[in-house]
Amino acid sequence: MMKSRNTKANNLEAVRKWALKQFSLGDSSIHGPDHWERVYENGVMLAGKTPGADVRVVKLFSLLHDCRRENNNYDPDHGRRAAEELEQINGSLLHLSDIQLELLVQACSGHADGITSSNPTIGCCWDADRLELPRAGIKPRAQFLSTAAARNLI
Ligand SMILES: [Fe+2]
Ligand SMILES: [Fe+2]
Repeated sequence: MMKSRNTKANNLEAVRKWALKQFSLGDSSIHGPDHWERVYENGVMLAGKTPGADVRVVKLFSLLHDCRRENNNYDPDHGRRAAEELEQINGSLLHLSDIQLELLVQACSGHADGITSSNPTIGCCWDADRLELPRAGIKPRAQFLSTAAARNLI
């Protein structure tokens, strides 16, 4: 997905590299880069089926939401730690509007809180991550999914 010469794709590669630098749990972590890649694919697919979803924000969420995890188990504030970085790197790395930045901050902050969102962009972010729950032996449940597109898949 990120090998194109397209400027946006190259920028995503720069974001991925930045996220990898933040990430301390190693490439084979269940919350690491392989997971980010699958969340990316899920998110692009869900955003394509969800009117009003901002796919740019969803793509960035996939790369950034777990980058500040400090362990592979119980770490309820890891999304809020990731969100704290975003304002600082916007302008240099992210190039988001104020509205997009706010959506990305909210999506990262709350993604591990077990709630749903009626906002199409945040919903696609959280569902893209939750469709990945089977990697931890957990079946995604409709009541914890925000989008019809994701509920239709389980
Ligand atoms: Fe997470
Ligand atoms: Fe995740």
